[in-house]
Amino acid sequence: MIKLEDVTKVYETEEVRTSALRGVDLVVEQGEFLAVMGPSGSGKTTLLNIIGCLDIPTEGEYFLDNVKIQSLSRTEQSRLRNRKFGFIFQTFNLIPELSALENVELPLMYRGEHPRVRTKLAQEALQTMGLEGRMNHRPPQLSGGQKQRVAIARSLVGNPECILADEPTGSLDSIAGGEILRMLRALSKDFGKSIVMVTHDHRAASMADRIIYLQDGVISNETDMRADL
Ligand SMILES: Nc1ncnc2c1ncn2[C@@H]1O[C@H](COP(=O)(O)OP(=O)(O)O)[C@@H](O)[C@H]1O
Ligand SMILES: [Mg+2]
Repeated sequence: MIKLEDVTKVYETEEVRTSALRGVDLVVEQGEFLAVMGPSGSGKTTLLNIIGCLDIPTEGEYFLDNVKIQSLSRTEQSRLRNRKFGFIFQTFNLIPELSALENVELPLMYRGEHPRVRTKLAQEALQTMGLEGRMNHRPPQLSGGQKQRVAIARSLVGNPECILADEPTGSLDSIAGGEILRMLRALSKDFGKSIVMVTHDHRAASMADRIIYLQDGVISNETDMRADL
């Protein structure tokens, strides 16, 4: 589904030129759970942004379901992004003034979905995440793990094929983090979602099917956990 061929990304300002990615080849199959590890500054977020069509490669090709992303217009790229990807962040990025339900409804609102449909889909997504009893709570009234589950529900509500997670357990204790990881794994194994998760935590990465290691913008190593089964 996701295929990168010799992707490079150069950020250029007037003073500095940074090669964030320097020739990345990567395939992520539908339903695969991939972990991305590597030191700070190695290009992990850049890679996630390119996969999620938030940014485009400087050189090389990105194919999403055999469509060459660079050949699409900006508008087509963002339409594709909204349809294919859900995003999860370390700091949850929820709106504190809105209830859990309203936070989850937001992506559907931008999409112009009917209010009744919106509410129904958001309720279902929250139920999937075990939050049926917390729909009217606002983020400050929820634990870290619950906030991240609301954020996952929000990422799921548009029924994306792929979830992109940047350090999703980075702000959580190990119990709440473990719960989030089991949910991500279930989304991949039971719901067929592809998951690309950036993490610093080896225990988190060990829940994935495969780990790639980035170093200075290239994949320096790879571990396939499925091979050990
Ligand atoms: N928008 C940007 N403009 C300039 N340089 C950037 C930008 N985004 C990232 N970089 C640089 O690219 C490199 C990789 O960054 P990033 O992908 O955020 O790494 P990681 O997520 O692994 O910490 C870093 O050297 C960073 O400073
Ligand atoms: Mg990063």
